[in-house]
Amino acid sequence: MQSSGLLSDEHSRLRVILSQMEEHAISTVRIREKLFERFYNLLSSHMKFEEVVLRGLLDQNVDCSDEIHQLIEEHYLFRLMLFEMKAVPKNHKRWGAKVRIVKDFIDRHIDYEEIDFYEALREALSEEQFKIVWKNFSQSRDEMGFNLTT
Ligand SMILES: [Fe+2]
Ligand SMILES: [Fe+2]
Repeated sequence: MQSSGLLSDEHSRLRVILSQMEEHAISTVRIREKLFERFYNLLSSHMKFEEVVLRGLLDQNVDCSDEIHQLIEEHYLFRLMLFEMKAVPKNHKRWGAKVRIVKDFIDRHIDYEEIDFYEALREALSEEQFKIVWKNFSQSRDEMGFNLTT
């Protein structure tokens, strides 16, 4: 979602944390746990806030519901992955593989949001509607009180 600086910031932060998790896939358990906690909190919060706006768009019957449903379905899969990753001991021999798989999926999802969905939304909305949507994204984020320094 290119036009929202806040979203791009969060996407960048997610990519950075995932790269760190990949690098530290064989580090101490404590480091793995700490990195996963940061990833878990940021991704959970990020998805929750995106969905506030995405569901709002569905309610308005915008002409890109296929893309929106795809994003929401992918969020559903990420929640299952987070649930599984949270439960598994961080010294498990499959930890590194789990991290690589989730990193691949998240990378693809972010690309989809920032390129395909962004374009679909631009086509579906008028210039004015488009501006309002991006404003809503930022406002929803403020209202949810997420601290970017977390
Ligand atoms: Fe998303
Ligand atoms: Fe996102």
